[in-house]
Amino acid sequence: AINLKAGNKTLPMPILGYGTWQANDAELEAAVDAALTAGYRHIDTAHVYENEKVIGNVLKKWFDAGKLKREDIFLVTKLPPGGLTANGVPKYLKRSLDFLQLDYVDLYLVHTPFAFKDIEGNLHPFTADGKIDLDMTTDHIAVWKAMEEQVDKGLTKSIGLSNFNLKQITRVLENSRIKPSSLQIELHAYHQQHELVEFCKKNNIVVTAYSPLGNPGLVTFFPKFGKQIEVPNILKNSTVVEIAEKHKKTSAQVLLRHIVQKDICVIPKSTNAQRLKENLDIFNFKLDQNDVAALNALDRGYRLLDFKIFNGIDDHPEYPFPELK
Ligand code: A2P
Repeated sequence: AINLKAGNKTLPMPILGYGTWQANDAELEAAVDAALTAGYRHIDTAHVYENEKVIGNVLKKWFDAGKLKREDIFLVTKLPPGGLTANGVPKYLKRSLDFLQLDYVDLYLVHTPFAFKDIEGNLHPFTADGKIDLDMTTDHIAVWKAMEEQVDKGLTKSIGLSNFNLKQITRVLENSRIKPSSLQIELHAYHQQHELVEFCKKNNIVVTAYSPLGNPGLVTFFPKFGKQIEVPNILKNSTVVEIAEKHKKTSAQVLLRHIVQKDICVIPKSTNAQRLKENLDIFNFKLDQNDVAALNALDRGYRLLDFKIFNGIDDHPEYPFPELK
């Protein structure tokens, strides 16, 4: 586990969590059950994944059966882009808690720095001309103040950010009573985010890596939004494969271990019982200096997720990747 700063307390968060983005309802119930059986105790979801109800049902089953206590689980969920206002924060956290059937979450993240219009029943609103319907009035400081109030009310143990850039995080840090405890970002061998990781270390912000395997599932995800992108298969990279053979581990295990050895949390997603077990089995080997150097050298600043599946997203004043505008 890794310690999060939650106000003046510390909160242990298991360094390896179960990621649930892109898992559909039909397969997810069995998968969450398999994940808990395998030993996952940190679950990462978000309101926009639309799977909080399924996760809540499985957790309730485990609680009711006495197999698990609430405090055994570290549950992370996120404020949707349509809720990025002072009023949106309590509204959407309450909705997430209702769906999850929980009294509190362990970590509530602001999912994105940009915001959509808050349109009931439509988490991804598009205008008639096919553009994402942006809320241009976003005020991170006002949103963060509302996030802090959720900690005061005991509805979340800690609060953090996701997909924010260095400048945006700095502004929140400088204008907050309760500092962001963690930052969740895309991070994998092809996009190691050294600058942001260094910055977070200095500021006691725990980093969580999403898409730690390079998210091979995006191959089928982007076409749903009418976008075609090339998704490089990091699992097949020859350096990764060689290191895996040397340790008698899989590529996935090497990629996850590489990140965890830097004290960065990982939340690989798998709905396959075999693979989700495989991803958990990374605490019985260690990458040596040479392995780490070779893996570090794979970094090429390759961002998979630029959010441009939302047409017009870079018009938002808080679009986090100005270099991609
Ligand atoms: P599946 O759910 O069928 O296992 P990321 O966590 O980087 O977003 O990657 C998730 C994607 O990687 C999913 O498509 C998942 O498919 C696949 N995946 C997860 N674990 C493994 C593994 N150990 N080996 C190969 N592919 C994996």
